[in-house]
Amino acid sequence: MPRIEWDESFSIDHPTIDKQHRKWIEIFNKMHECMLNNDSGEYKSIACDTLVSMQEYANTHFKFEEEYMYRINYPDFIKHRRLHKDFDTKIYEYNRDIRDGKMVLNTEILKAIKNWLINHILKEDKKIGQFAAE
Ligand SMILES: [Fe+2]
Ligand SMILES: [Fe+2]
Repeated sequence: MPRIEWDESFSIDHPTIDKQHRKWIEIFNKMHECMLNNDSGEYKSIACDTLVSMQEYANTHFKFEEEYMYRINYPDFIKHRRLHKDFDTKIYEYNRDIRDGKMVLNTEILKAIKNWLINHILKEDKKIGQFAAE
């Protein structure tokens, strides 16, 4: 599974949000790399650490984006905020299940996170940028 490469199609024309998305993609790529390169017994703790960074960064970013949507009176604010919450819950559950030994961080999970990130930015976040430009 290839890493995510940022390109201009990800831009929502908001410099801070774009910068945060880039950083988020970077964290994802690090997580991906970390999983590919890891062959030690520390696997579980590394998996959890990277998932925790993913969750922490997501929350910082979500908070910023939600404040922005609120400020510009974005009409789909409630729906968008719920999507953020769903992501947060999903990552929390992955993290908990890995820590409890119920599952391991595998390609399938990474793929799900990757698809979520890309779809969310390209479909949902993009709409915020379009609304702001109107
Ligand atoms: Fe969003
Ligand atoms: Fe976003």
